[in-house]
Amino acid sequence: MAELGVLTDAAVLIDGDRVAWVGPRGQAPDLQSPHQVVDVQGVIYPGFVDCHTHAVFGALRLDDHQRRALGEDYKAIAAAGGGILQSVRDVRARSEAELVALTRARIGALLSHGSTTIEVKSGYGLDLETELRQLRVVRQLQGAQPAALVPTFLGAHEVPPEFRDRRAEYVQLVCEQMIPAIANERLAVACDVFCEPGVFDVAETRAILTAAQRHRLGLKLHADELEGRGGAELAVELGAASADHLAGISEAGVQALAASETVAVLLPATMVFLGKSHHAPARRLLNAGAAIALATDFNPGSSPTVSLPLVMALGVSQLGLRHAEALNAVTVNAAAALGLARDRGQIAPGFRADLVVCDVSDWREPAYWMGANTVTAVWTGGSLVPSLHARYL
Ligand code: NIG
Ligand code: FE
Repeated sequence: MAELGVLTDAAVLIDGDRVAWVGPRGQAPDLQSPHQVVDVQGVIYPGFVDCHTHAVFGALRLDDHQRRALGEDYKAIAAAGGGILQSVRDVRARSEAELVALTRARIGALLSHGSTTIEVKSGYGLDLETELRQLRVVRQLQGAQPAALVPTFLGAHEVPPEFRDRRAEYVQLVCEQMIPAIANERLAVACDVFCEPGVFDVAETRAILTAAQRHRLGLKLHADELEGRGGAELAVELGAASADHLAGISEAGVQALAASETVAVLLPATMVFLGKSHHAPARRLLNAGAAIALATDFNPGSSPTVSLPLVMALGVSQLGLRHAEALNAVTVNAAAALGLARDRGQIAPGFRADLVVCDVSDWREPAYWMGANTVTAVWTGGSLVPSLHARYL
């Protein structure tokens, strides 16, 4: 993860939506066919891959933010009617068209910070109709704006209030109705569960993810976010593409991830926003041999940031990553967390031509300028994104 190929005075040849060639400019192939030349100042990176977001939401959660500032914790705020269920009430009341408009702007903001592939989870519906609506929003925006979107079903984000005293029935609803309906309409490529004491336990998570597996969905877990209770171990046991969060991971969980293909997706912006003083043990994971990715966790409750460069900076200064490790964590490894490592995350022949230009002179700078947006141009699938910074949250 600490290795990186850095070229100076380089050229990239794009053919259609793919990278055809990359190397020193002086060695670029002589092109006979008509082509366009674009001169770029700064550093070109592979398009960043944000492999964990909850980008389909309505209202912000500013009150939660203030309550936390004054000392209430995330779980107490949720128990008092804030938290995820507040966003659920809000999203249930919004039309698909309204959510499309809101999400389009937010995806534009993620893209303007360099994210060319963005995973987007449902999970603010928690009933069949609204979960489908959230995923249809993602489908509508796929191809209707420049970023590539990867939809994940997160019906098991929380137990909805109408099932509070019948949680087994909610798990059954997720397994027997939601997963088949979503798989049938191909509305998601993966299924995720918030596996955490007080939310869904390991047995419930296993039931939901094995149902998802039967319907050929990929697997992801919100694992050991606040307390470690075997979430990472379960992710490995089930062959999940990723185990995400991991601030409370156990030593057994570290060892399990290290011996597996499951990517550890770390979300340091969430811990910072929640005011926590500890982080996932990134160095221990790396030293043990685990693969690490970084993501924003973009959502209204625990991580309202659209900036993967900011997350890289937190990766360096809070998680102890080298700049190269942070960069690999938002490109190659983030693509792997989505099962797309052969297709994107590198500037190499045959890979999708997703490119980000930052107006910097040293490739380490995006992970250094904490909170600044150095992105000046983005290509997705070989096309230059027009009016990159014209969208606002
Ligand atoms: O990844 N942990 C669960 N889900 C989100 C939080 C979502 C919310 O608070 O709305 C997370 O942090
Ligand atoms: Fe999350």
